[in-house]
Amino acid sequence: MDLERDYLLQNYSRYPLVVHRGKGCYVYDTDGKRYLDFISGIGVNALGHAHPRIVKVIRDQAALLIHSSNLYYHEYQGPLAKKLAQISGLERSFFANSGTEAMEGGLKMIRAHGTRVSPEKHEIVSLENSFHGRTLGALSVTGQPKYRAPFEPLLPGVKFIPPNDLAALEQAVSGRTAGIVLELIQGEGGIYPADSAYVRKARELADRHDALLVFDEIQCGVGRPGTYFSYQRLDPVVLPDVMLAAKPLACGLPLGVVTANAKAAASIGAGMHGSTFGGSALACRVALEFFDILEEVLPSIQKVGGYFHVMLNEMARKYSVIKEVRGYGLMIGVELEVPGKQVVLDAMADGLLINCTHETVLRFLPPYIVTEREVDAALKVLGKLIAKLKA
Ligand SMILES: Cc1ncc(COP(=O)(O)O)c(C=O)c1O
Repeated sequence: MDLERDYLLQNYSRYPLVVHRGKGCYVYDTDGKRYLDFISGIGVNALGHAHPRIVKVIRDQAALLIHSSNLYYHEYQGPLAKKLAQISGLERSFFANSGTEAMEGGLKMIRAHGTRVSPEKHEIVSLENSFHGRTLGALSVTGQPKYRAPFEPLLPGVKFIPPNDLAALEQAVSGRTAGIVLELIQGEGGIYPADSAYVRKARELADRHDALLVFDEIQCGVGRPGTYFSYQRLDPVVLPDVMLAAKPLACGLPLGVVTANAKAAASIGAGMHGSTFGGSALACRVALEFFDILEEVLPSIQKVGGYFHVMLNEMARKYSVIKEVRGYGLMIGVELEVPGKQVVLDAMADGLLINCTHETVLRFLPPYIVTEREVDAALKVLGKLIAKLKA
């Protein structure tokens, strides 16, 4: 901690916990104290810690080939791209290393698509309260001024509109719009899901004005909502032109992906985009193993997530300090009437890791392998802390 204070950029305000190791849904600090991990490295450790099948493929592949660059083929990008096409309903993928880098790929597709149609077609419509990453392009479409302000001017032509407001959406999209970017369950913004009718309208407008519809599934996708992607929980399902994913894909190894339909994919030709590290043999092989396991655990995400929602709603009925419980599957926000920071610190002292977003929203992103017993253990800690709060 002292070395970090003296030698790191002071951009993070970390909790006072040094994580040493993890097993299943638990992590242990350097003194051996155990914590139930209900934040999973902000949605990354979807299979918990030290999953035996993931440990095995990392060991095997690390001894064979970690990285070969995108100058050559390796055995795993092709099969992983095929798997993504099968589960997403889209066609072609590009592999990156993080969420924000996937977002950059999506933005370049939007720009390249627009430019092909007309030089005037460069506008992007995005949502207020959204979060899309920290690089300059991703920041440009992030609808929270606090993240953008120190770095302005950013990309021109971005219009921010309130989520779930059909009239504002209709008004914002025009022939100059090259892309609409939606985070279907706003994560960092406080766990706010988009309505089916709203997303359907975005699809209609994108088609009418020849704009690309881009879904940021970086936090709300890849199994977390209880379906492969959060657009698959909409009724009826609305397919995007481009889908961005990252976080849990390679169980903690850096991997992001831009998955596009044929039309969007055609906007990026040879030499127009690339990455040295993106889609390494190691990360892609781990992601293939992850998807095999995800298929087995998807039903449990719905079941255990459903149980967690029911129990939290029961708690909300008992304690008026809980304003609302939101989310799907294992992506849950509990909005309090009061700031949540102290609850997070007290939960940590009691051996439960969660975090707080937007000041008052307790955020739960437990691993997909979580059991009802572990949910009960988390609820016990939480119930005690909530009971102490005054609305
Ligand atoms: C919805 C969403 N988009 C993009 C990002 C950026 O991802 P990364 O931190 O991997 O760059 C995040 C990260 O939290 C996110 O939640």
